[in-house]
Amino acid sequence: MIIKNAEIVDIHGRRKGDILVKDGIVADTDFKGNYEDHQIIDGLNYTLMPSFIDMHTHLRDPGFEYKEDMETGMRAALKGGYTHLAAMANTNPITDNMDMVVENLSKSKELNLCDFTQICALTKDFEEEFVDLEKIIAVTKVFSNDGKTVVGENTMREGLKLSKEFGFLLATHCEPEVEVVKRDLNILREMPGNLHICHVSEKETLNLIRKAKREGLRFTCEVTPHHVFGNDIDYKVSPPFGTKADRQALIEGIKDGTIDLCATDHAPHSKEDKEKGSPGISNIEVAFSMYWKVFYEENIPLGKLSQMMSYEPAKLLDLNCGEIVVDREANLVLIDENRESTIDIKDFVSKSNNNPFHGRKAKGKVVMTIKRGEIKYDNR
Ligand code: DOR
Ligand code: ZN
Ligand code: ZN
Repeated sequence: MIIKNAEIVDIHGRRKGDILVKDGIVADTDFKGNYEDHQIIDGLNYTLMPSFIDMHTHLRDPGFEYKEDMETGMRAALKGGYTHLAAMANTNPITDNMDMVVENLSKSKELNLCDFTQICALTKDFEEEFVDLEKIIAVTKVFSNDGKTVVGENTMREGLKLSKEFGFLLATHCEPEVEVVKRDLNILREMPGNLHICHVSEKETLNLIRKAKREGLRFTCEVTPHHVFGNDIDYKVSPPFGTKADRQALIEGIKDGTIDLCATDHAPHSKEDKEKGSPGISNIEVAFSMYWKVFYEENIPLGKLSQMMSYEPAKLLDLNCGEIVVDREANLVLIDENRESTIDIKDFVSKSNNNPFHGRKAKGKVVMTIKRGEIKYDNR
């Protein structure tokens, strides 16, 4: 495959060059050879970026398939430009054992849509007893009780200790946010651990994180499209929408590197479940356009967004992609970066369209998603 004439944007900035893909791998980023006998994709007027990697998705599989299942979630993700998803464990039953992790991993292989990380619960049934970490680290390196806070301070301390010992990442949902983040950073001050803080949303949390990073503590954190895109919105999501000052603080945190990466927290729910108060937003199909609207208006370059949507999550999940460089996997997305887009929940391919931004203007559109040289979504 050759992708020609596109503008290339990734963490390394903006440039031109024709991309040669061989056996699913980027073989050349400035190809000048013979174009015959190749599948040619004309990227003229488009921007080619590394496809996106979502550290934080809810696929609802198994148990809540009426909200989403692995297939619909992955199709929605490909439409949004994602080729790798890390799915949270708050399924029904909770994904807290080897068999369930293995089952979902093999299901994702069969589907052959997105690449996949199944996150395993840290504790059995999200209570206080640890899952069989020693065994399960053979099949996943990410553990999280997302949806629920690790309430016990000692459980958190022990979990972080084990994360270092076994070499896994512990992703946390923190409620109340400031208090729990403060607690966890204090634990990290006592001893190292592999901590990733999910969906940071408050100004005060950002200040804690910035200070801790300046001290030299090592950990990562993420934001969601909805907290970066909107504030003071009356729509149930966890953590809740913040104020204008909170949102501004997130933007500052993106600009100064306090925030490591952009996830989605794609959280599909049925209409009935939303009416009963389930928190969450279905957003993976429009996440890029939501982020890009804000980044563009704040004069943050697209390369920085690429770093936060592809490069950093690839690093954290230890994937051979996330930048357009020779020998990396050809996981790519073609974007119309200047296209005005409007968020339209009627266009969603996700089973759920719980999203409060219907009708709002966003920026840019995903036109093609390529995984290891294979076109997985095409809407040129
Ligand atoms: O809004 C949210 N929805 N936040 C969470 O932490 C859980 C998620 C869900 O699973 O619906
Ligand atoms: Zn959460
Ligand atoms: Zn979540």
